[in-house]
Amino acid sequence: MKKKNLDPLMIVLSVVMLAVFAASIYTSGSAIAREGKHVGSIAEITVPDVPDVTTQRAYGVVSAEEWSPYYADIYKSYMENANNTGHGGTRISYVETDPDIQTLYQGMGFAFDYTEAIGHNYTLDDIAETTRPHKLANCLTCKTPDFTAMVNEMGKDAYAVDFDTAYAQVSEPVSCYNCHGNTPGTMVLTHDYMKDAMGDEVAAGRISGSVASCAQCHIEYYFDKDTKATRTPYDSPDNFDPDSILAFYNKMGFVDFTNENTGVGMIKVQHPEFETFMGEGSVHKGMYTCADCHMGVAYNAKGDPYANHLLTSPLDNAALLKDTCSMCHNGTDSNPADVPTLVKSIQAEITGREKVISGKLVQINTKLAAAIQSGSLADDVIEQIKKLDRDAQFYWDFVYVENAEGAHNSALSRQCLDKAEQLADQALALLG
Ligand code: HEC
Ligand code: HEC
Ligand code: HEC
Ligand code: HEC
Repeated sequence: MKKKNLDPLMIVLSVVMLAVFAASIYTSGSAIAREGKHVGSIAEITVPDVPDVTTQRAYGVVSAEEWSPYYADIYKSYMENANNTGHGGTRISYVETDPDIQTLYQGMGFAFDYTEAIGHNYTLDDIAETTRPHKLANCLTCKTPDFTAMVNEMGKDAYAVDFDTAYAQVSEPVSCYNCHGNTPGTMVLTHDYMKDAMGDEVAAGRISGSVASCAQCHIEYYFDKDTKATRTPYDSPDNFDPDSILAFYNKMGFVDFTNENTGVGMIKVQHPEFETFMGEGSVHKGMYTCADCHMGVAYNAKGDPYANHLLTSPLDNAALLKDTCSMCHNGTDSNPADVPTLVKSIQAEITGREKVISGKLVQINTKLAAAIQSGSLADDVIEQIKKLDRDAQFYWDFVYVENAEGAHNSALSRQCLDKAEQLADQALALLG
């Protein structure tokens, strides 16, 4: 596709255009709603009155099935996530497609077991099947509302409960309670670390509940060294950029795993979809929520609208692309290319660069291990290279493990890859 190099004036122009178009979307959205059943966004759907539902389940989580009589359409779409068993039907093993990670993650489970993410219905099966070690209940943080409710009842001690003990008490994969508590139709932050980090911002309306609900899991996190509790490496929207996160980890000397070849204490980044979409440089933050692009409105057989709870790529949502996105994404002179074309070109560029840089990180790993073995470099040079290696791999991993593969915020992904490559080149220069 035609590649655009936006100069500063074009960027200012795009921002102004965005504002104008965004305003027009909201006007036309409500106009559509007034005409009849066809609504522009989930927020415009009228939530039906339903009775309170009580449950006998452990820790009081009302299950999706228990809600199903009252929200039949939503429940049906929620269950359709079970059809997501991997892109193209076969689940990718990154250990095979990206063999560099066997070296880069050596010393931790992802070096031998790392498969692509699939639908929410499979979270409990996946955690049971993974061959990655999981000793404590904190691994259940993003897998089941039963554990979320256990934390809400027991406090942070729940995170340090032995895995098998906790697993015996859970049975519901990610479901209604995670995003709504026991009050579907309202957005509720149920995960304590997210309430601690962003609760005030959400309460003040600076971060939408439809973003924060997903951000309870689609974020970078770590386990506290002492309490084993799940935490975010930031406490406000001002410090969830990659530079601040790295500075936070470096200040506390945090180590996720030690690479067995080189002895370098590494950080393992996890799925920072929230940080990329809401980060500096994101074209659509403030304009759309995660739900706008990954859920959207669907219509039942009677033609009534409901919030689609099948979480898909916007590329698989033809109605969304046609009715909403094509307003700007139509490939005319002043407008960006259609969404699939744009996304595919960004992803090809980003994943291509990821491979080049992971190749350099493997070279560092091999040469550093050899230098340590032979004693050919002075200790202070070795220390310098170890630090460059740790930081370079962090910036690379922030892009590599992010599930939008650059589509959320290509500017930020490019910046991270630039930093990773510069640091890697410095390390290689020292290694000779
Ligand atoms: C992963 C998070 C998540 C899960 C799980 C989830 N929802 Fe939702 N739900 C949302 C979001 C996000 C919205 C959209 C809010 C918006 O943008 O206006 C929503 C909207 C709704 C609405 C309001 C729709 C309207 O008419 O305006 C209802 C009712 C609802 N969900 C019920 C359920 C039920 C019942 C379940 C379980 C079967 C469930 N949800 C599971 C995130 C979730
Ligand atoms: C309680 C934790 C949790 C919440 C909340 C959550 N997710 Fe997820 N999500 C996961 C996990 C874990 C997986 C991977 C499941 C697997 O591979 O077994 C996943 C997978 C997905 C996938 C499939 C990824 C793929 O590559 O096919 C999408 C899409 C997704 N989530 C979107 C969302 C959106 C949008 C929201 C908010 C409306 C949300 N999630 C909220 C935990 C969560
Ligand atoms: C108001 C106009 C407008 C609308 C509506 C719009 N976009 Fe965009 N979008 C843009 C502009 C401008 C860019 C930047 C294009 C560029 O860099 O070439 C962009 C970029 C993107 C990107 C790439 C982001 C990046 O960081 O490079 C994605 C993905 C995207 N849009 C998806 C969507 C989806 C999905 C929809 C519909 C839900 C949508 N857009 C609706 C104006 C819009
Ligand atoms: C402007 C539209 C837009 C918004 C808003 C958006 N995303 Fe995405 N997201 C995308 C696109 C485009 C992709 C790449 C899809 C693909 O590869 O098919 C993507 C991919 C993903 C994936 C991987 C899913 C898959 O099928 O590969 C997850 C998970 C995800 N986003 C989560 C989120 C979360 C969480 C938020 C809110 C913090 C969010 N997204 C906000 C456009 C969006």
